[in-house]
Amino acid sequence: MRDSSLYHPIKIKNVQIEGNLFLAPLAGYTDIPFRTLCLKHGANLTTSEMVSTEGIARNNRKTTDLMTRAENEKLFAIQIFTDNLDSLQRGFENLLAANPTIIDINCGCPVPKVTKTGAGSALMKTPEKMASFVKFISDNTDIPVSVKFRTGWDLENENYLDFAKLALDNGASSLCMHARTKTQGYMPTANWDRLEKLTDMVHKKYEGIPVFGSGDLFEPKDGLNMLKQTNVDGLMFARGAIGNPFIFDQTKHLLLTGEDIYPSSVQDRVELIQEQLDLMCKYKREDLAFREMRKHCCAYLKGIRGSSKVKQLLMKAESKNDYIEALSLLSE
Ligand SMILES: Cc1cc2nc3c(=O)[nH]c(=O)nc-3n(C[C@H](O)[C@H](O)[C@H](O)COP(=O)(O)O)c2cc1C
Repeated sequence: MRDSSLYHPIKIKNVQIEGNLFLAPLAGYTDIPFRTLCLKHGANLTTSEMVSTEGIARNNRKTTDLMTRAENEKLFAIQIFTDNLDSLQRGFENLLAANPTIIDINCGCPVPKVTKTGAGSALMKTPEKMASFVKFISDNTDIPVSVKFRTGWDLENENYLDFAKLALDNGASSLCMHARTKTQGYMPTANWDRLEKLTDMVHKKYEGIPVFGSGDLFEPKDGLNMLKQTNVDGLMFARGAIGNPFIFDQTKHLLLTGEDIYPSSVQDRVELIQEQLDLMCKYKREDLAFREMRKHCCAYLKGIRGSSKVKQLLMKAESKNDYIEALSLLSE
């Protein structure tokens, strides 16, 4: 029996998860500090930034860092990207040593550096390769495998239903679809009708397999609408969580009570910026922390009246003091 309430627990193979609001993998964003805050504000599952199986096989220091859990991350998905079974096999022991709760395979990244190797969304053109990765992992560990993919390479070649079937027939335990083709990138509007078709097929043919939806989840009400319109089991927030980790609690509240408490106050956002900056300084080299925090700050301040001067200052911030001084202008 599927739970009919919109916010509900999720089971992925042998893994029980409290709710159905996940943070999507976001290269360059979903580092330990950001995941820590998303979990604190209600995300039910978080995923690493994507890591290459070649880097894992070589025990590359940066890759190992990317596969490290946050302190509050009881459950932790690691997303891999690869174009060949050989490097997955060579790196497999190292991948297991990182102790992921779920191993996710990236079949959606549209970045040329990734697709020209045959990885990411290029796998939409070579589904049999994706199937071999899923099969190898599920034959060799009990850790559930999930697959995150797009609707196809382009609108003339949308193959998401067959792609999903192949993933599930080879042992995948959950799916997440970003409802756009590779060539659509991140615009225009995501095609949620494809999510409805996918969910319908999976629920009819594959009992107990959860389907997650991704694409244009910018506000809590988008989450409510996606759940209602497409019947997906859960949501993966991506750009909507950048600069707004509150979106998980806000969406949970909306789903449970019907009350929309969006948006968060300026004060809440400034406090979260400071908390994220402290975490960045704890986990990264300070100069990197100050540089990387700038893009998060701009997202936090989006839509706040009079914040353009603050954003300009933050673009040059090189110390904690620079951040504090710039942010203090917001309350003037
Ligand atoms: C900056 C950025 C980085 C991303 N990195 C990844 C990634 O590493 N792996 C992945 O599967 N998807 C990645 N995505 C795609 C998102 O997870 C998500 O599917 C997509 O942004 C659609 O959701 P949205 O329209 O709600 O943002 C990335 C998206 C953005 C904007």
